[in-house]
Amino acid sequence: MKELLLCIILIFSLTACKQSDEQLLSKLGYSEEEIDLIINLTEENKARFLEEYDEKLLKYLVSADFKEANLDEYLKYDGEFEVDFIIDKVNKGILNQNNKDKLKELYSSKFFIKDKEDLYLKYLNDYKTVRDTIEIVNTKRYLDLYSDIKPVDMSKDYLILVNKYYQLASDNEPDDLVAVTGVPGRGYLRQKVFEAYQQLYEEACKLGYENLTVVSAYRPYSMQESLYNSYKASDPENVDTYSARAGHSEHQSGLCLDVSMPGYSLDDFYLTDASTWLKDHAHEFGFIIRYPEDKTDITGYQGEPWQIRYVGKDVSKDVYELGITYDEYYACFVE
Ligand code: DAL
Repeated sequence: MKELLLCIILIFSLTACKQSDEQLLSKLGYSEEEIDLIINLTEENKARFLEEYDEKLLKYLVSADFKEANLDEYLKYDGEFEVDFIIDKVNKGILNQNNKDKLKELYSSKFFIKDKEDLYLKYLNDYKTVRDTIEIVNTKRYLDLYSDIKPVDMSKDYLILVNKYYQLASDNEPDDLVAVTGVPGRGYLRQKVFEAYQQLYEEACKLGYENLTVVSAYRPYSMQESLYNSYKASDPENVDTYSARAGHSEHQSGLCLDVSMPGYSLDDFYLTDASTWLKDHAHEFGFIIRYPEDKTDITGYQGEPWQIRYVGKDVSKDVYELGITYDEYYACFVE
């Protein structure tokens, strides 16, 4: 009987205590839903809410992904990131004091692609800078060249990406090829590309570069195959740094062309004023320098100041101003 009485008193006092916590919390301004969450916390954490109406703690508590064991860890980053971000990354063990600055840079980068988040995190410490990691991941350069090859997405039309990871079908041939006429040189290009080149050439003439010559334009799959194989036979070590394997050359798309000046080989073209002008102005006519000298790690090719690729004026301006390769531009803004 005595035990029963004690038991009743204990239950009664516990209930009373619980009620008083709820009342106190209510008085502090917490809503009923918030109080329900708070009273289920450990005594220690509950006490923190009982001290005052604590908006900072509350932000974390009301999240569906809140884990009480991580509360103090969340608070370490409060104000530095969005609450949801902190909760998610702390819960996953990704955010810590050592990498928070890198994460800040990563997640605020204009080149960040949500689908590649896991890859960025995987390689975050493998490259010199966060920007390097982003660039490597966006362009798939963490993979061996000529691996994980996908077909070129032809629906992108003038904006297709052809590189060592994207291959054109062997029977792919544009149906709007026109002959290069009225300008020095030879070959075939897609009509719109040739029209854009004519405008570029017109301006080149005004500047005294009327000898700017189209050295190579559209190349069918079979031609690229022979070209690559002939280079490979004499230079197997280096061929992949300057010649594309069949299906992997932009020349097969009819969207690019090689230009040079009389008396200069392609390799010497960079010595000409026309090359300097092209580098700074090709984008005004819808072209980009496809293989910049300083991006060989990304493109997988030695610099080719002579190869210009048509992408249209809006995109060429963007690529030029951002100073990135088309490989990365495609991943960030086209794909
Ligand atoms: N020279 C470039 C990479 C090509 O072969 O298409």
